[in-house]
Amino acid sequence: MQHEGKVALVTGAAAGIGQATARLFAQRGARVLATDIDASGLAETAEGYAGITTVAADATSMDDCRAAVQQAQRDLGGLHFLINVVGGSRPGKTVVDLDEEEWDFWVRLNLTSTFLMCRAAIPVIGQSGGGSIVNIASGAGVTGMGRNPAYVAAKGGVIALTRSLAIDHADQSIRANVIAPGPILTPLMQRNRTEQEIAFMSKLSLVGRLGKPEEIAGTAAFLCSEDAAFINGELINVAGGRAGPV
Ligand SMILES: NC(=O)c1ccc[n+]([C@@H]2O[C@H](COP(=O)([O-])OP(=O)(O)OC[C@H]3O[C@@H](n4cnc5c(N)ncnc54)[C@H](O)[C@@H]3O)[C@@H](O)[C@H]2O)c1
Repeated sequence: MQHEGKVALVTGAAAGIGQATARLFAQRGARVLATDIDASGLAETAEGYAGITTVAADATSMDDCRAAVQQAQRDLGGLHFLINVVGGSRPGKTVVDLDEEEWDFWVRLNLTSTFLMCRAAIPVIGQSGGGSIVNIASGAGVTGMGRNPAYVAAKGGVIALTRSLAIDHADQSIRANVIAPGPILTPLMQRNRTEQEIAFMSKLSLVGRLGKPEEIAGTAAFLCSEDAAFINGELINVAGGRAGPV
């Protein structure tokens, strides 16, 4: 019950990494507000978890971010942990093929969403006595990745933004860290990659398989715990020892 008495807000919580994160924080005693645009996926996330409350919220909307944070404050008693999981991509184009609307869409989904949720949440985390922000970037934001320039740039931006958050909000007892997952078996991975590509990526990992969503959730839970009290502004690669772009 590592997170007993704490309140966590998780974005992108209807599937994959966000779903596993909401469930793990609830298992460890937190009261969790699980947010996503997919209301039926959110219901699945909360099934059997008394500690999970859900709300449909678009993380690219300032109004929705504010409303979710207000709900956490009003109904769950404050806010201590923000785990920004929302993101995604569709590989296939270089900067030459990608039009401006597509660029804006992916940057907004991966980077601006993190900014908006932090903007809404940080004053309330401060009022709640401090806490921890964990942003989910990607190995793509560290090493680059073929034919996915908006995603690579946005995830690199999430890493840089996290360092800025750590510096600016340390005096409110708020730590901010960022996880760069390697390939993790989630609905996003299943949408973007063929079975052959997934098998190939599994062999590249030193662990011999793709990661599990629960392994990213576990790292986020650690980063929010007292065991990580001296870890701030750090990038943690969780990639089975695999380095380099796919
Ligand atoms: N799966 C991987 O291999 C992998 C690797 C590196 C990084 N990541 C990152 O981890 C995060 C989660 O990935 P995943 O694989 O679990 O993805 P996923 O597609 O399985 O789940 C993403 C969730 O975000 C929700 N979502 C999408 N747009 C939203 C919006 N505007 N507002 C609110 N919710 C929205 C979706 O409904 C979905 O439930 C993403 O940021 C992704 O870039 C994933």
